[in-house]
Amino acid sequence: MNRSPMEILPDTAEGHARAAQLLRGGGLVAFPTETVYGLGADACNDRAVARIFDAKGRPSFNPLIAHFAERDAVKRHVIWSDEAEALANAYWPGPLTMVLRKRADSPISKLVTAGLDTLAVRVPAHPTAKAVLAGFGGPVAAPSANRSGQISPTRASHVTSGLGDRVDAVINAGVCAVGIESTIIGLVEHPILLRPGGVTKDQLMQTLGAAIAVRKNAEAISAPGQLGSHYAPNAAVRLNATEWRAGELRLGFGDVACDLNLSEDEDLVEAAAHLFDHLHRLDARGGTVIAVSPIPHHGLGVAINDRLTRAAAPRD
Ligand code: TXA
Ligand code: MG
Repeated sequence: MNRSPMEILPDTAEGHARAAQLLRGGGLVAFPTETVYGLGADACNDRAVARIFDAKGRPSFNPLIAHFAERDAVKRHVIWSDEAEALANAYWPGPLTMVLRKRADSPISKLVTAGLDTLAVRVPAHPTAKAVLAGFGGPVAAPSANRSGQISPTRASHVTSGLGDRVDAVINAGVCAVGIESTIIGLVEHPILLRPGGVTKDQLMQTLGAAIAVRKNAEAISAPGQLGSHYAPNAAVRLNATEWRAGELRLGFGDVACDLNLSEDEDLVEAAAHLFDHLHRLDARGGTVIAVSPIPHHGLGVAINDRLTRAAAPRD
């Protein structure tokens, strides 16, 4: 496999063009979206997609999201619906992924869908992602650009330290604004929330004017983020810490003394944007336990608690 040094590309027209060129050649390029950095490959090229799994060390039953520059391109690969149209009008481009039935004539690699007859699709809003996708001109499969089970990357430096020369290039384009992955809604039968994220369930229900089921953790693995331990730092994670214990790395929320604060103002949007970056920074200090203040369980707090619960799950 290729192990030449990773190219650090500037966030310029030249950098975007180089990224598109590498993707066309079957390369792996990490690029920012508004949620997290994605590890992109040509979604129609089996070998390129296989390299994603190799680079991430990811269990191959986990399907990937296909990213597109615009909605019309999406419709060539999935069976579109009125619900999809309403959600796209409200949230695309943006941090929402929809799972729809794949069209039989879609050339997307079966490695992307892990053999399912459904496809997860997303049109990101980040200008760099848009430029790369438009320049490449086809769907790009992109999981978060981290080793499987580790913390998601919200800066180019997280990608270089996590994946290094397993990747051909990374576009260095600063910090991701949302900071946690896209919300995933399944629309194959009735609407079902598969992963909480940047768009809340209440927002989705309002747009659809209908109830949305929530996937239970025990349900089968067609679905996302299903591995119990996920997003895990090297240190153990202790949740809902209302007091700190000796030696802990303290990740606070609100008006508390701590090592790093997700949001002193108890702003959940700010907390989401800081979540993975703060976990990376505390983990880099090399302690054994990261303790985290309680996070309110509403709005983006649901997605934050989902990620924290996985970070704290038993590892095996
Ligand atoms: O914000 C995001 O969504 C980021 C950026 C890079 O776009 N991507 C991301 O991808 O989080 P990843 O691969 O880390 O998570 C994708 C999730 C997985 O948990 C997977 O199980 C689920 O999407 N998924 C993909 N295709 C699916 C399908 N056909 N049915 C159900 N779940 C699917
Ligand atoms: Mg991920």
